[in-house]
Amino acid sequence: MEPIIQERDLTGPSGGPAEEHSQPSGPFRRTEGAEGAGPFEPEATRRTSSAAESSRANRGWWDRNADEYQHEHGAFLGDDRFVWGPEGLDEAEAGLLGPVAALAGRRVLEVGAGAAQCSRWLAAQGARPVALDLSHRQLQHALRLADALPPGAGVRLVQADAGALPFAAGSFDLACSAYGALPFVAEPVRVLAEVYRVLRPGGRFVFSVTHPIRWAFPDEPGPEGLSVGSSYFDRTPYVEQDEAGRAVYVEHHRTLGDRVRDVVAAGFRLLDLVEPEWPSWNGQEWGGWSPLRGNLIPGTAIFVCER
Ligand SMILES: C[S@@+](CC[C@H](N)C(=O)[O-])C[C@H]1O[C@@H](n2cnc3c(N)ncnc32)[C@H](O)[C@@H]1O
Repeated sequence: MEPIIQERDLTGPSGGPAEEHSQPSGPFRRTEGAEGAGPFEPEATRRTSSAAESSRANRGWWDRNADEYQHEHGAFLGDDRFVWGPEGLDEAEAGLLGPVAALAGRRVLEVGAGAAQCSRWLAAQGARPVALDLSHRQLQHALRLADALPPGAGVRLVQADAGALPFAAGSFDLACSAYGALPFVAEPVRVLAEVYRVLRPGGRFVFSVTHPIRWAFPDEPGPEGLSVGSSYFDRTPYVEQDEAGRAVYVEHHRTLGDRVRDVVAAGFRLLDLVEPEWPSWNGQEWGGWSPLRGNLIPGTAIFVCER
């Protein structure tokens, strides 16, 4: 069955990304000043955050920061490249979704797709991707990038929360997520169970997240990011909040064992857990990810799951 596509006008009043990018930022937890949330400096703290609050806060954060994020990271991500994380592991070489030659004709769901760079690579291999994201502005960037591609190379876009996928059971052969949704949700099993539901039996779901060990270290790319600063076992979410205590950005921590249990609880079999090493060609810093830290500790964990 074809997935249900939510028709939306994704073109914005400005018609494209902002021209000015005064405060570059990373996509993940940040140690100072989340701009764009209003005329205040958000306070970074650790406290609980419900599924509803996390979803609302992160939708707002990604809508406000999508322009800057794409400006800063778009060149590394590539308009139609499938990169699993800041290390630069490329699906064209990794083949975590299976052999590249077998992708043609496959119905693929990308969860938390951002500007749908991965989905465009999948489409170029002959797959039939649907790119889903919570953020309207991220999907506007997907439309902007699609304009530059030949007709027919497009990707279907859906704006929705990964915790409630608007698709029928068994709609997809494969699903993937490169740092999309799972680092940000309060109830990861709900997302995993939703992906399980919309996959056909035997379908594969591959997703990457911040490697859990990173939570024990300050989120800094330099030497200050190499000393353990807090407990790896403290699951209290990282929250940036406004003056009234409303969350404007949330990330949820799971230990490696938690992630494995979540995958199993949703019904999946875990086939592999990939920890990409930092390659010598990659000299970039991306938030707290850097060659210095990447050569010493893992930055990304990729879970290869099968329904
Ligand atoms: C780091 S980006 C990943 C996208 C792309 N792979 C990339 O590297 O740019 C995270 C994306 O997850 C989306 N996201 C966060 N929470 C989500 C949720 N609950 N449901 C769907 N998407 C979500 C954000 O809007 C954002 O576009």
